[in-house]
Amino acid sequence: MFSEKVIDHFQNPRNVGRIEEADGEGIMGSGECGDYLVITIRVCSEEIITDVKFQVKGCVAAVAASSMTTELAKGKHVYDALNISEIDIVNALGGLPDEKIHCSVLGAGALKKAIYDYLGKKYIADKQG
Ligand code: FES
Repeated sequence: MFSEKVIDHFQNPRNVGRIEEADGEGIMGSGECGDYLVITIRVCSEEIITDVKFQVKGCVAAVAASSMTTELAKGKHVYDALNISEIDIVNALGGLPDEKIHCSVLGAGALKKAIYDYLGKKYIADKQG
């Protein structure tokens, strides 16, 4: 049912946790099952995501997709990371069963929200000089 990559990321999830005083935080819930994901990011002055962590309440697919999301985002410029879609996450995992595709939406959504949170804070900080 699940690919080897899904099982690997479920059994050995990467980047679990929460960054203290993160530069951005995003929370995404699933309307289908009530599960949710929190992603926190650290962004350097070059606007590269240097660290990213996640905490999830969810199923096997959600844990694996969240873990993969952090791997795809780490080291990317924030504007490149904004383009990471649930399709990218599913493909990187070697596929997900159709009924589990919605679990990968958590990763893409929470990451986008974390980046927008960062960009919003930066905009305000820049305005204040
Ligand atoms: S069933 Fe809820 S995230 Fe997968």
